[in-house]
Amino acid sequence: MSSNTQIIINQFGDAELLAFQQSEQPQPQAGEVLVKVAFAAVNPIDVKTRAGLGWAAQHNKNNLPWVPGYDVSGSIVKQGAGCLKFNLNDNVSGFIGFPLRAGGYSQYVCVPESELALMPEDISLESAAAIPLAGQTAAQALEKAKIQPKEKILILAGAGGVGHIATQIAVAAKTQVYATCGTDNIDYVTALGATAIDYTQPDWQKNLNDVDVLIDLVGGEQAIDALCCLRPGSRVVTVPTITSSLVCEKANELGLIGMGMLVEPDITQLEELLHLISAGMIKIKIEKIFPYQDVVQAHHKVEQGHARGKILLNMQA
Ligand SMILES: NC(=O)c1ccc[n+]([C@@H]2O[C@H](COP(=O)([O-])OP(=O)(O)OC[C@H]3O[C@@H](n4cnc5c(N)ncnc54)[C@H](OP(=O)(O)O)[C@@H]3O)[C@@H](O)[C@H]2O)c1
Repeated sequence: MSSNTQIIINQFGDAELLAFQQSEQPQPQAGEVLVKVAFAAVNPIDVKTRAGLGWAAQHNKNNLPWVPGYDVSGSIVKQGAGCLKFNLNDNVSGFIGFPLRAGGYSQYVCVPESELALMPEDISLESAAAIPLAGQTAAQALEKAKIQPKEKILILAGAGGVGHIATQIAVAAKTQVYATCGTDNIDYVTALGATAIDYTQPDWQKNLNDVDVLIDLVGGEQAIDALCCLRPGSRVVTVPTITSSLVCEKANELGLIGMGMLVEPDITQLEELLHLISAGMIKIKIEKIFPYQDVVQAHHKVEQGHARGKILLNMQA
């Protein structure tokens, strides 16, 4: 039987504590398929959980070692009893085991087939691994805000994993999109169709007003500082969970409608996003693909908080 390398969290702490575990390939149970993982995305939640922060760490603290990773692309190599959705060798994309099971940082992983979407033929395995969690977060944040054509939308962190997708969806919805980013990302965010705002410029908030919707992908003080750009009664969706009650409280005090959110895997939505990529309507940006052996560096990159688009692990490198 072939072996399976997985990346594990044995104890919470620095990225250097990530370890490798060898086992036999798992056997799919009824309703599950075995996926040979091509790429797994590294999301901020993986990094925060590894550091012992947030509710996923809280819920998994008695469940270590734990294999992180919610986003995978790959191919079906084995099917458990009763599996009818895919054929062997089909390429799939999945937002798997969210929030507690995870397991994507594996060369082979068993997944309920209901958590996987068939990849359109003309999209890459890289894009298919990058889209699930970030794409659904972007889509669900904009849905929660009930954006309407012509509205003024401010997205904090328009160049990031979630932000570059949210910007494209909001532009396609014919809203006026303003998106913050650092100086090096101004041209990139402008090319996505937004008015780019350099957040490193002091008091940038004073030059923007009457915003209808804030999509906050940064949280904390930066989100609170941006509330002055909004008109009374406007909507704030604050995505980073660790500061969401603080930001909502401040928003509500100012007469705005503050809402937190937790992304929910939705297979129909994932299929739609894959088709939007296939149609060229969403362009996925991947800043860097690390061989899985370099997972420590991949975590450092995400932890620094300045990735343009997504960071992936090549699980078959
Ligand atoms: N609640 C949920 O269900 C949920 C789901 C997904 C993500 N999240 C959270 O949402 C946040 C965003 O996720 P992500 O995957 O998009 O993160 P990410 O890809 O790591 O974000 C990186 C981006 O943030 C930008 N950035 C950093 N500081 C900034 C600032 N002060 N103002 C504006 N932009 C700034 C960087 O742009 P520059 O390089 O130009 O500085 C970079 O492009 C994270 O906190 C994540 O944990 C929550």
